[in-house]
Amino acid sequence: MATEEQMDERKIPLLTPYKLGKFELSHRVVLAPLTRQRSYDNIPQPHAILYYTQRTTKGGFLISEATGISDTASGYTHTPDIWTKEQIEAWKPIVDAVHAKGGIFFCQIWHTGRVSNTSFQPNGQAPISSSHKVLTGEQYTPPRKLSLEEIPLVVNDFKVAARNAIEAGFDGVEIHGAHGYLVDQFLKDEVNDRTDKYGGSLENRCRFALEVVEAVASEIGADRVGIRLSPFADFMQSSDSNPKALGLYMAEALNEYKILYCHMVEPRMTSYEEKVECLHHSLVPMRKAFKGSFMCAGWYDMEDGNKAVTENMADLVAYGRLFLANPDLPKRFELNAPLNKYDRETFYTPHPVHGYTDYPFLETSTDLKDGKCT
Ligand SMILES: Cc1cc2nc3c(=O)[nH]c(=O)nc-3n(C[C@H](O)[C@H](O)[C@H](O)COP(=O)(O)O)c2cc1C
Repeated sequence: MATEEQMDERKIPLLTPYKLGKFELSHRVVLAPLTRQRSYDNIPQPHAILYYTQRTTKGGFLISEATGISDTASGYTHTPDIWTKEQIEAWKPIVDAVHAKGGIFFCQIWHTGRVSNTSFQPNGQAPISSSHKVLTGEQYTPPRKLSLEEIPLVVNDFKVAARNAIEAGFDGVEIHGAHGYLVDQFLKDEVNDRTDKYGGSLENRCRFALEVVEAVASEIGADRVGIRLSPFADFMQSSDSNPKALGLYMAEALNEYKILYCHMVEPRMTSYEEKVECLHHSLVPMRKAFKGSFMCAGWYDMEDGNKAVTENMADLVAYGRLFLANPDLPKRFELNAPLNKYDRETFYTPHPVHGYTDYPFLETSTDLKDGKCT
């Protein structure tokens, strides 16, 4: 008989429990935030109940798809929002269903900033950003730089959205500060060319993000707040000339607010087509600097997820595409079972089933008839 110690050694590191603040997680395989564009007219739909509950385990941690905080936040069709009563009500049955299966569910709150165009904006106005810098691409229209007086209003929109998320039943929120959207448009010097207190030095460029953190944490409690950052990424033409310094500055500055977790995207995650081996950069300095829980994401498989946990590079690992295509991902890791392949073509199509809730579970991936595989 194996001793307890030997049993522990055999445990898959990703499947060991973790105490995330007041949340007792039964494992560390997190559902990454995944935009699926199936929330018609920005209203979460009943088919999301099945999608999220398929990916729920008892004590599992889930982050919702990016969810718009205001009427200027949207930049894509059929992404969900959380600023009207109707939207809050529409989220409730989805959140309730995840809770009924024992999941812990955070809402990722989002403003796309300049990654938008006039057709998504009230009265056809220009999208807002940290600067006037235009995002090249024919679907985008030139942004309008936020004035000093307007910035607190956007901070307030994040705060109200966080309160709405709690009203909808979410356990907390993740502030989307990554991937070239509004918060990142302030953080990164490729976009932010302001000369006021929100631009120039690192301290100034990080001010908006930290004001959002402070406002959200004071509204719903720091123990319910996470933030996602991608200092090394250049999605949406948002690179930084010194990403390591930026990541470190944020990791250290966040400590003051005592938020629950910091979620960072790996430097190797520069494209969805190819995993870039990144020898010069890693998240280790940020992991060490940040005193709360640390989550990583970007091109993780089971093996390097286990390694990240074993080597204390992260407490939690978020899985995007693998979780999208494998609703029972933690179970597959447990059994070291083969994985379904994801279908890129249906990532963002509006169909309520195809490429959304029809990825097979292990039990159904082989058709058992009369005890035989057919
Ligand atoms: C279909 C799709 C939608 C995504 N939507 C979001 C999103 O809403 N918010 C976000 O922060 N990241 C989003 N991402 C990025 C993922 O959360 C994740 O960081 C990325 O896919 C890398 O992880 P992976 O290699 O495990 O897929 C999306 C990625 C994909 C493939």
